[in-house]
Amino acid sequence: MGENTTAKASDFVDQVDATFVFIFGVALFFLVVITIVMVYFIIRYRKSKSPEAKHIEGSTSLEIIWTVIPTIIVILMFQYGWSGWQPQREPPADAFQIKSIARMWSFVFQYENGRMTDTLYVPMGEPVKIDLVAQDVIHSMYIPAFRIKKDMVPGKKGNIWFEAGKEGVYDVFCAEYCGLRHSYMKTSVVVLPKDKFESWYVDTSLVVPPTAEAAKRLAGVAVTRKYGCNACHTTDGSKLVGPSYKGLWGRTHLVISGGEEREVTVDSTYIRRSIYDPNADVVIGYTTGLMLSYKDQVTEEELGQLIEYFKSLNN
Ligand code: CUA
Repeated sequence: MGENTTAKASDFVDQVDATFVFIFGVALFFLVVITIVMVYFIIRYRKSKSPEAKHIEGSTSLEIIWTVIPTIIVILMFQYGWSGWQPQREPPADAFQIKSIARMWSFVFQYENGRMTDTLYVPMGEPVKIDLVAQDVIHSMYIPAFRIKKDMVPGKKGNIWFEAGKEGVYDVFCAEYCGLRHSYMKTSVVVLPKDKFESWYVDTSLVVPPTAEAAKRLAGVAVTRKYGCNACHTTDGSKLVGPSYKGLWGRTHLVISGGEEREVTVDSTYIRRSIYDPNADVVIGYTTGLMLSYKDQVTEEELGQLIEYFKSLNN
């Protein structure tokens, strides 16, 4: 085995790994022993050596041994698992709070000061509690390096907590098959030392772009990244779950509105409706019901930034 690069990544690593090694060790031990005995019996009692089958009565002492030993082993497995799992269920009251919102097909992280990101930023050496919210179907938040995984069930409250012990960037995956673009639901957790985290936390300014034109475009790109729009929409004209943004502005779409086919021109009214009421007009060739409304999330300002961005993609 190589060096464990995720050792101390979170306070749960040791216990979870110990449980894994114990269960794996027991399984490996019995695999080897049973295989050896099996091979020995095949050779020892082959037909040419013992052509006559012998009848053997049961053995009480053997029965007791192979009942008691496995029972002790599974109780030990349970004990290991329980003592590793129990602390994961009880977040400390003073933990740093973050909300994780999952939907098809992205994670968004919301901080108490209003910051929203597509990447999870956490301070090192401090307990962090993440409330799990699923907006449409069941997702699952999985941070392998931290040895944490928990389902995110719509309408059900849940949380995870951890104390990150090592600066770095680790993977975050959705671990519950949640539809077509499930595999796209991945992001990162960035562990920063406390001082760096604090300056990140209070900094709400964006990098100043070179021109006013670029500024407009960047703001729109930031909005699509924040809400994970790219899971379903491309910027190069190719078709994914939803239509591409390229050449979108001003074009004429054939859509289905309430069962009726009609033609619409893509303008600000149409884009607004597509984001706030995405299933009102569905472009022919795409599936209804895959996108939820962003009514309470995308602000009017962000909507304007998106429109500017879409316009810029026509040039
Ligand atoms: Cu969300 Cu898989």
